[in-house]
Amino acid sequence: MDRQVAAMSEGQSMQAEGVWTLQPLVELSAQDFRDWCRVLEERTGLVINEQRRSFLQANLGMRMRELGMTDYASYLRQVLDGPRGAVEWSLLMDRLTIQETRFFRHPPSFALLQRYLQERVQAGLQRPLALWSLGCSTGEEAYSLAVVAAEVLRDTQTADAFGVTATDISLNALNKARSAEYPARRLEQLEPQWLERYFQALPDGRYKVLPQLVARVCCARLNVLELAKAPMTGMDVIFCQNLLIYFRRWRRREILNRLAERLVPGGLLVIGVGEMSDWQHPDLQPVADEQVLAFTRKG
Ligand SMILES: C[S@@+](CC[C@H](N)C(=O)[O-])C[C@H]1O[C@@H](n2cnc3c(N)ncnc32)[C@H](O)[C@@H]1O
Repeated sequence: MDRQVAAMSEGQSMQAEGVWTLQPLVELSAQDFRDWCRVLEERTGLVINEQRRSFLQANLGMRMRELGMTDYASYLRQVLDGPRGAVEWSLLMDRLTIQETRFFRHPPSFALLQRYLQERVQAGLQRPLALWSLGCSTGEEAYSLAVVAAEVLRDTQTADAFGVTATDISLNALNKARSAEYPARRLEQLEPQWLERYFQALPDGRYKVLPQLVARVCCARLNVLELAKAPMTGMDVIFCQNLLIYFRRWRRREILNRLAERLVPGGLLVIGVGEMSDWQHPDLQPVADEQVLAFTRKG
């Protein structure tokens, strides 16, 4: 009897006896681990090392349990198989990506953004500002960008002259970003007057971003490995934080080179401190601020 059939008959006999227990997750073999890691990295860039093996096993195992499967190799074949596989793959992405985030997660980066936008606005805007949150997760970073832009433009003639593009590989995360409702703990780093100005308290204790700010944020699915196909160009600001850390260094470099091309002259690229300390680009100039890792495009 193979593992799957054995586990199913074990599960059935438990049901027959009326015992309410979950079947233990099947061990991920060395070969299955290698195969899953290879496919994940090829398709998303995410590197799962030995330390995160239990994370992979737990998340694959839980999904397989929902599907009544116990064989990792069969499940891999299923997710690689045509349109039906693509739907399952997309669902799996929600489970295998780390979506931890919060508003104003790295305050010095947002302080830099505010100074940068103030200078741009003082110099006179020729067109609306375009900002991009890459790997936006559930939207906190994108709405933080929107709050700063709204604040900087607040007392000008062009208060809504900005748009934020928020992209992520996870559809589930993007749906949450679109709903724009958040528990209070995610908003702890927000200035109280901004909370009052841009959020509405909900009866259940959570907060909802006001519709006029939500309207300035456009959420879209984008795999960062497919940047070449992405239509985003002419960006004034790109935020790419806590995404590259999961990738190999050569891939981080490749992604950053592509992002540099998407900036307007004078545009600002902000990445996570320590995410790519030795990267340089001939068209970019590092921002002289030890608290952030950021670059502006020359010209
Ligand atoms: C840890 S969150 C970072 C969220 C936010 N940028 C921040 O700093 O708080 C990483 C996000 O990157 C997304 N992600 C992972 N791999 C990706 C890929 N290949 N393309 C696009 N997004 C990806 C995940 O779905 C997740 O939402």
